[in-house]
Amino acid sequence: MAEKIKGADAFVFVTGEYNWSVQPGLKNLTDHFLEEWYWRPAAIVSYSAGRFAGARAGFAWHGILSEMGMVVISSMLAVGGIGQAFDAAGEPAGESGAALTRSFPRFAADLAWWTEAARVQRGRAPPPY
Ligand SMILES: Cc1cc2nc3c(=O)[nH]c(=O)nc-3n(C[C@H](O)[C@H](O)[C@H](O)COP(=O)(O)O)c2cc1C
Repeated sequence: MAEKIKGADAFVFVTGEYNWSVQPGLKNLTDHFLEEWYWRPAAIVSYSAGRFAGARAGFAWHGILSEMGMVVISSMLAVGGIGQAFDAAGEPAGESGAALTRSFPRFAADLAWWTEAARVQRGRAPPPY
C-alpha cells in the first residue's frame, strides 16, 4: 500500500459521513501513512444518503489532508441521495447523478491542473523536507 501511495501523482478521497464527521476506517488508513502522502494534490468527493451529501465530512477532511502534506484543491464533489445516484451498471442516475455529471468536468480539470503543477515542480526541485 505504501508503494502504491508513493507512486501516485494525486489522490481522490471518496468519503461518506459518519455522525457529522469522517468515517473511521478511511481515517485509520490515512493515518497509517504520513510521508507517503506528501507533495501531491488531493481532491475530496463526499457522499451520503441524505441531502447534505457528506459535506460535513468533506469539510473535516480538508484540514486533515492539508496537515498530512497534500495540496487540497478547492473543487469538491458532494453526492447526496447516494442510494439513487447510480444505476445498476454504475452510471449516474436521477437528479443526484445528473448533478454529479455536470460538476465532474470542472472538478477533474482542477485536479489535473494541480497534478501537473506538482509533477513539474517535483521534477525541478526536490521537496524541501
Ligand atoms: C455510523 C453511521 C453514522 C452515520 N452518520 C451520518 C451522518 O452524520 N450524516 C449523514 O448524512 N449520513 C450518515 N450516515 C449514513 C451514511 O451517510 C450512509 O449510510 C452512507 O451510505 C454510508 O456509506 P457506507 O455504506 O460506505 O458506510 C451514517 C451511517 C452510519 C453507519
